[in-house]
Amino acid sequence: MIQQETYILPTAETVPDFESLYLAVRGLEQRIYTDEQLRQLPEIAPSHVHYKEWQIRKRSAERLVSYLAKKKKSLAILEIGCGNGWLAAKLAGLKDARVFALDVNAVELEQAKRVFKKSNLQFFEGDFSNQYFVGLKFDVIVFAASIQYFSPLKDILTKMQGYLADGGEIHIIDSNFYTEQTTEGARQRTFDYYKKISYPQLAAHYFHHRLDELAGFNHRILSNPNGIKNRLLKGSPFYWVRINKDAA
Ligand SMILES: C[S@@+](CC[C@H](N)C(=O)[O-])C[C@H]1O[C@@H](n2cnc3c(N)ncnc32)[C@H](O)[C@@H]1O
Repeated sequence: MIQQETYILPTAETVPDFESLYLAVRGLEQRIYTDEQLRQLPEIAPSHVHYKEWQIRKRSAERLVSYLAKKKKSLAILEIGCGNGWLAAKLAGLKDARVFALDVNAVELEQAKRVFKKSNLQFFEGDFSNQYFVGLKFDVIVFAASIQYFSPLKDILTKMQGYLADGGEIHIIDSNFYTEQTTEGARQRTFDYYKKISYPQLAAHYFHHRLDELAGFNHRILSNPNGIKNRLLKGSPFYWVRINKDAA
């Protein structure tokens, strides 16, 4: 079981690769959960440092699950960058769903396998070059708070469209998208943040995708943090984007 208290942080010098850097920062940010906490996510104690963020993530997960439930059909779902697997486990609660979840982060993935044992849920370690899914087609591919680690956006989306079954959809949730005006400032803030916490190398793995990069894809913005409704109701600060298999 992962215990936050005993987790030893590697230093920036000793961890040049993405997985170790990422994990070190997760620890620093108090985002490594105990098995017991993970089992309950997105519910977490109001005293937890990330309680507010989990409230937001809970709402977006519920929104996605209820959107998919309305399809009233058995779905093959792939989550890319599943981390500790909390969302994949929720998706596996959909009637007749089969969920496949992939991540390069072996430590959290091991925890996911240990905590969420469901016959319709499988975890895979690695990135897409591992060829686990060659020949398979999915009805739904989910990127939850993970698309910012993939670049170029056009390449990953085009590749993922190739894994969609007819009528399939890619859903990007809990991530930000930027405009020509906001990208540079966001990039700088990300760099400043990682520098401040002594992991400037991680900034090189974090990408600020622009909304206009979606233009060539048959997509729909299902929730816009800057939309009037979201602003008035203090809704999610993140985008929810659906990309269809077929060309625009
Ligand atoms: C912020 S976490 C999100 C985890 C989870 N989806 C959630 O909603 O909590 C981003 C995840 O993307 C994973 N990731 C980054 N690059 C990846 C890659 N090339 N292939 C697979 N996973 C990747 C990271 O290891 C990390 O677990």
